[in-house]
Amino acid sequence: MPEPVVDLRDPAVLADPVCGYDRVLAESPICWARLPSGEEGWLVTRNEDVRAVLTNPAVRTDPTGLPGQGAQTQEQAFLALGTPPEHLPYLRASMLSLDGPEHTRLRHRISHAFSASRVSELRPRVQQIVDELLDDVEAAPGAGNTPVNLLDVFAYPVATAVVCELVGVPETDWADWWRWGKVLVGEDPAQITPTFGEMVSSCHALVERRRAEPRDDLVSQVIAQGGLTDVDIVALVVFLVLAGHETMAHLLSNGALALMRNPAHRELLRAEPALWPAAVRELVRTDGPVQLARLRYAATDLEVGGVRIAAGDPVQAVLGAANRDPAQFAHPRHADVRWQAEHGRREGSLGFGWGPHFCLGVALAKLEAEVALRGLFERFPAMHPVDEPEWVPLPRARHRVSLHVRLR
Ligand code: HEM
Repeated sequence: MPEPVVDLRDPAVLADPVCGYDRVLAESPICWARLPSGEEGWLVTRNEDVRAVLTNPAVRTDPTGLPGQGAQTQEQAFLALGTPPEHLPYLRASMLSLDGPEHTRLRHRISHAFSASRVSELRPRVQQIVDELLDDVEAAPGAGNTPVNLLDVFAYPVATAVVCELVGVPETDWADWWRWGKVLVGEDPAQITPTFGEMVSSCHALVERRRAEPRDDLVSQVIAQGGLTDVDIVALVVFLVLAGHETMAHLLSNGALALMRNPAHRELLRAEPALWPAAVRELVRTDGPVQLARLRYAATDLEVGGVRIAAGDPVQAVLGAANRDPAQFAHPRHADVRWQAEHGRREGSLGFGWGPHFCLGVALAKLEAEVALRGLFERFPAMHPVDEPEWVPLPRARHRVSLHVRLR
């Protein structure tokens, strides 16, 4: 194997994934790299190649049984990381780790809850959640004078509330989910196991409650369909709430910061609010929270962009780089809302992934970002950051540790 061209754990890449990945895109768009897990594999950065990888049925998310991957199953890998055996059944069924028909079946079970028409019915409730939170922010003592952390007072609460509402998690538990989500991405192994345990028992209690008293929510619908055990349903709820709030909170915070720094875009959106959906698409493209797709593996020998990839090789698609590929976008580096409104829909923006694992929550995420960011800037048009927010040093994500702003 060649020497790795780039190490994704390199502090320089972690400090600025955008520059790190764009350098690879310009110099060696498909290259052998050291990946965040420490293993080596192919890094794929060109927009066309990322789409080819993510739609190729011979590229799988489950490496079990592939050449060079040893006989270790995903479960054994979790055990090696210190996961207690009783938690394994909840991790096995994650949608992102399934391939082929098994994945399609699970996705079909819940996709109706995320359809564009179902999501548009949720708009008034999302608006109400956003308005109430903005009322709380405005009424907080010292609001306007004292800086607030927008991630804590707005982005996380909105993101958690909306996905919990859709799934059926009661309002009394929303704050717990926010706290649990933070622990799980914080990567402190000592806290992860007890936190995961708390989440799972809270979800079992929810499933029992909804079995006894169904409501108009996803948990009740999945129970009514039948065919899944309680463990499967709990695994699904845990995955959906986590998938739906962590990325969403950072899309809101990245988007708010980008707009605070771009008075021309703020003015355009004030004058033409119909451009908000285009603004959200452009924020996801240029400042999206997910830089790396989940790691995949070649199931057979294959060729991507003229490079031969051997069966069993890990393949890491870099969504962030593909979203700034000059071969694909007229303005690769800079957000341009007007251009996005006129041409963007036809362009291959990959911030929500691509192929069979394309983000199931995409319609909800776009609606939520539009309602939340529009509400925020209409309420606090002069809001501004008080310092340069620090990046969380993760290669996969484009997250800020905090976002301190003055509201007026
Ligand atoms: C994948 C849900 C928000 C980016 C997924 C999947 C689900 C999901 C269920 C897995 C689909 C599958 O495996 O078939 C949600 C929900 C959201 C949300 C409920 C919010 C309400 C977001 C946001 C972003 C995002 C804000 C980034 C802008 C992605 C990406 C993938 C994905 C990139 C694909 C990962 C891969 O293929 O490796 N999402 N998501 N999601 N989501 Fe979301």
